[in-house]
Amino acid sequence: MFNFNYYTPTKVVFGKETEKQVGRLIKEFGGSRVLIHYGGKSAVRSGLINQVKEALDNEQIPHVELGGVVPNPHLGKVREGIALAKAAGVDFILAVGGGSVIDSAKAIAYALADPERDVWELFQHTRKAKGCLPVASVLTIAAAGSEMSNSCVITNEETGEKRSYNDDIARPKFAIMNPELTMTLPDYQTQAGATDIMMHTMERYFTQGGNMELTDELAEGLLRTVMKYAEILHADPANYEARAEVMWASSLAHNGLTGCGNNGGDFASHMLEHEMGGMFDVTHGAGLAAVWPSWARYVYREDLPRFVRYAVKVMGVNPAGKTEEDVALEGIHKMEEFYHRIGMPVNMRELGIAPTDEQIREMAESCVRASADGHIGSAKVLYLEDMIAIYKMAR
Ligand code: NZQ
Ligand code: ZN
Repeated sequence: MFNFNYYTPTKVVFGKETEKQVGRLIKEFGGSRVLIHYGGKSAVRSGLINQVKEALDNEQIPHVELGGVVPNPHLGKVREGIALAKAAGVDFILAVGGGSVIDSAKAIAYALADPERDVWELFQHTRKAKGCLPVASVLTIAAAGSEMSNSCVITNEETGEKRSYNDDIARPKFAIMNPELTMTLPDYQTQAGATDIMMHTMERYFTQGGNMELTDELAEGLLRTVMKYAEILHADPANYEARAEVMWASSLAHNGLTGCGNNGGDFASHMLEHEMGGMFDVTHGAGLAAVWPSWARYVYREDLPRFVRYAVKVMGVNPAGKTEEDVALEGIHKMEEFYHRIGMPVNMRELGIAPTDEQIREMAESCVRASADGHIGSAKVLYLEDMIAIYKMAR
């Protein structure tokens, strides 16, 4: 077991009608002038933005608003938010939406705490953040886990670079999670979300680090639960219990719990997917489903005991009379069958993209630049040529 820090300062307020508490919660955390940040249409269409504004008005909290955050959120929108928040003297940022809105809010919050510096430098890893304004969310999609995570992922739409910056100071103050708010999601987004939730735990599970029995059992339980309820939601999107199970899983999968003692995690699939997002603007969870099976087949021999355990304990493979390799491969195959059952792709063709050899090299080179030391991964350490090989397998 490795040493670890577990830091989850986010207050979770979970359940029906909890969005009504937003004004009181902002006051509790010292917000006195708020930027309400949201996405394209859904939160306006559902009436949620109006409800949030009313809740703030009831507490006499002044607010300004900025919508229009797109999935794979843009640096340009972040800059717009910085200018607006500065001019309005904002001291608290409320994201109403999913990972894209929360990440855009976090980036604005970093910038406001250090207004003389360009926030993109954080994502280029040329400096560390000095501070971060308080951020909180009313969550409308169970997926990215940004509502409790220390991570922030922004796309520079001019260069096509999708980059992350991680720092505990950006962990949100509170997260309001009403599973009913996710019932308006298109099934594709629900299932891409479930895929992302699982991947956040799988990235921490497939490592060469030590294992911690408790962490592994939590991870496996979370994965089985999300699989079960993702399938239920595929048939019955208005099922409250299923929405609630998946929503709570989204936070626990990415707040650090399912990685304690496991040496940090692999995150190669995420790094590879971020390049696909930067170049082709794909839905993050679907992009992960398209790359994971190829990643898994490329690396499983180097991490065989973990792949065998995964196959047996998560995918229900019966190991009797089979070699360890066969068990591991059957587990990967069963994962693909699951992706298909919930309408997710298992390769780039099914995702709807067809990168050329040149584009694959470009993505791999960009991935190398985005990595700290020119390589990614833990289950198997991957270099440029490995990344190219995985992209080609996934094509
Ligand atoms: O813009 P609107 O109209 O709201 O539509 C959104 C968007 O099109 C829609 N949506 C959200 N809630 C809805 C809804 N539609 C109907 N009803 C609702 N209740 O769903 C679409 C996707 O929203 P988005 O916020 O992009 O989803 P998600 O939460 O999956 O976030 C994805 C982003 O988070 C990043 C991803 O890379 C991607 O940029 N990630 C952030 C992480 C973090 N900060 O910890 C970790 C993840 O690994 C991930 O990389
Ligand atoms: Zn993710």
